[in-house]
Amino acid sequence: MLLPHLKKSLDYKMEQDIKQIIQDAIYAPSGENCQPWSFRISGATINLFNLPERDQSPYNRGQYGSYVAHGAVLENIKISAEQLGYRVDIKLFPEPSNKNHIALISLEKLSTSIEKPILYGAIAKRVTNRKPYEDTLLSPLELDELVKSISDNSVKILITQKNSDKKTLAEIGSLNESIMMSNEFLHDFFFSHVTWTKEMDEQKKIGFFVDTLELPLPAKKLFKIAKNWKIVKFLNKFGFSKEVGKQNAKTYTSSSGFGILSIKDTSPESFINAGMALERIWLTATNLGLNFQPVSGLLFLVYAVKLDGTAQFSKNQTDLIDKGYETIKKTFQVDSSENVVFMFRIGHGNIKPTARSSRFNVEDFIQVA
Ligand SMILES: Cc1cc2nc3c(=O)[nH]c(=O)nc-3n(C[C@H](O)[C@H](O)[C@H](O)COP(=O)(O)O)c2cc1C
Repeated sequence: MLLPHLKKSLDYKMEQDIKQIIQDAIYAPSGENCQPWSFRISGATINLFNLPERDQSPYNRGQYGSYVAHGAVLENIKISAEQLGYRVDIKLFPEPSNKNHIALISLEKLSTSIEKPILYGAIAKRVTNRKPYEDTLLSPLELDELVKSISDNSVKILITQKNSDKKTLAEIGSLNESIMMSNEFLHDFFFSHVTWTKEMDEQKKIGFFVDTLELPLPAKKLFKIAKNWKIVKFLNKFGFSKEVGKQNAKTYTSSSGFGILSIKDTSPESFINAGMALERIWLTATNLGLNFQPVSGLLFLVYAVKLDGTAQFSKNQTDLIDKGYETIKKTFQVDSSENVVFMFRIGHGNIKPTARSSRFNVEDFIQVA
């Protein structure tokens, strides 16, 4: 379908190209698949906006998760525009007083042909895969490709494949799920974002479609019951939340390795840069046929604790979050001045995810100035 207003102001080819670029942009990952973006087109520029109301999650305090997602959108825009023969200029936060105006993206059609980006084909294929992977080691070539995929010196990537590190990081990563099952606020938030059938997911188009969570059969049955906090609270007397953590840790350990991204400061710009780097690594992993899952819940809870304090978390939970964060830094020997903002697991195996999350239609995101 053509965008009627655009047709008047831009030539037909450019209209098609901009629509394609935004179509590619919205394949980006976002926390709970909340897709917190909108695009305002004005001539050959695209203004990217954050929609904070889309993600009121405790995992998105300070909008840090959304900034990472916007970084991934911007990386997709860059790659897609290059594929179509445009030079791209990105200005972050063009209106200093408006933190929701994420970027002003100027496109310039080049008259000479440029090299096609190798990551383009991976944009639509990239997916969060929550299944257990094979735990065979990544080859030096695969590791090199992943590390080299980041061109921005301000974001550091570190990957470990040591068994002892994997065990530690799987346990720390799964603390997120055990804390979630022992905290009414996190529990209720999570379950209110689960879509229970394909029809429901296609209608809502945001949140966690239950089939993407890859729950093993016994857990799948219990999962429906677990949406009732009173039942979970009762089951926790018998160690339920710890058991949930243990099961998740088992899946997380079934990986070749874990990786982290770290940045020097926690400014919105740095989180966006981390998101751009994340997308490049994830697309590179996709091209290499590797499976990939963010294991970042605990890292985003660090900001929930910082900004919400003890209002939402018990002393025991804040201690677990703080110690978990420090353990991640220690395991990767990250300098104390660095901030770890993302963790992921990665691994071999021809293991297709059972389902993919939905997206809104591209037209739903676009306004024409
Ligand atoms: C900032 C951020 C944090 C995320 N954290 C997690 C996580 O801790 N665990 C997880 O399984 N997925 C996580 N995801 C993946 C999203 O849930 C996923 O991108 C979204 O549901 C869309 O699915 P897709 O990646 O398959 O397109 C995260 C994504 C982003 C952008």
